[in-house]
Amino acid sequence: MIKNDLFLRALKGEEVKRPPVWMMRQAGRYLPEFMAIREKYDFFTRCRTPELASEITVQPIRRYGMDAAILFSDILVIPQAMNIEVQMKPNFGPYLPNPVRDQRGVDNVIIPDVHEELDYVMQAIKATKELLNDEIPLIGFAGSPWTILCYVVQGQGSKTFDKAKEFCFTQPLAAHQLLQKITDTTIAYLKAKVASGVNAVQIFDSWGGMLSPVDYQEFSWKYINQIIEALKDDAPVISFAKGCWYALEEMSNSNASALGIDWTVTPQFARKATNNNITLQGNFDPVRLLSPPSVIKDMVKKMIDDFGKDRYIVNLGHGILPHVPLENAKVFIDAVKEY
Ligand code: CP3
Repeated sequence: MIKNDLFLRALKGEEVKRPPVWMMRQAGRYLPEFMAIREKYDFFTRCRTPELASEITVQPIRRYGMDAAILFSDILVIPQAMNIEVQMKPNFGPYLPNPVRDQRGVDNVIIPDVHEELDYVMQAIKATKELLNDEIPLIGFAGSPWTILCYVVQGQGSKTFDKAKEFCFTQPLAAHQLLQKITDTTIAYLKAKVASGVNAVQIFDSWGGMLSPVDYQEFSWKYINQIIEALKDDAPVISFAKGCWYALEEMSNSNASALGIDWTVTPQFARKATNNNITLQGNFDPVRLLSPPSVIKDMVKKMIDDFGKDRYIVNLGHGILPHVPLENAKVFIDAVKEY
């Protein structure tokens, strides 16, 4: 039994005394204790060493007492396990030296045994569960197949992911084969994560908003929904599709337990688009954490009033930025706890 079950109750749609709160990318560079570990170990060493990954996961919890922890890892461990080289370059981000651009590239991508190739993630989950001591739930995550394809084909971050889109639009058969391989791997991976102890999973479709509504159906949502259907009896699934306001209604009719909302829509719009029938998570503009503390406090209260305290999980509309002052993150979390 988890002592603080606010987050799990909100995912079930149960009534709560106040909404739960956590922040996307809460384990990260705004924390000095994170930077101290980052100085000593490179990115994938941090991901692959259970003692480091678990310690980094609980750092923000110790400092701020969020209502859920999210495992320190990355969405790009999946392509790595699928035989695609992924580097994390300091001051640059992800770099994939051999991007997939044709059928031959797709044929070389393997569906790995996740229990072998990603055992280090399962060990990190077990180590984290020990540190958390059943105080709060632990969230596991994966990228959406489309968002993983974006990196695998583009080879790096991008403002447009034009090469990824070009691949889908000019070689749709190969693109769908690649998306299906990523989907099959992700389903096995998330099931293994749940078996190792995570209490809920979130799918990050960070680049879903790069697609038009019609293309979103074909190249992203179809595959996310396969993952939701496969996982729904194992654990609650949160689908966060950044920039995809146009797909909210369809997503609300799926078996997802909650939908992530970015800051470009109002709570009223999000509730209406989802026919008021699903738990919503979000949607504070991450840059608003740079506002003066008193402004943050007022805006958080208004955000909760507008979403409603039930079937709601307070979060940012995307990941926290590295230059957010420690005090401002605290004001954000505390404003929810004082609600
Ligand atoms: O939320 C958490 O606290 C858990 C950790 C987490 C990381 N990445 C650690 C990380 C999570 C949930 C992710 C997901 C992720 N990774 C996404 C989806 C979420 C989103 O923000 O859209 C994406 C697109 C990635 C790919 C990725 N990893 C990028 C684009 C970068 C570089 C950008 C940056 O912030 O530097 C990473 C690196 C990364 N992943 C860092 C962290 C803490 C920073 C690099 C470092 O610590 O050396």
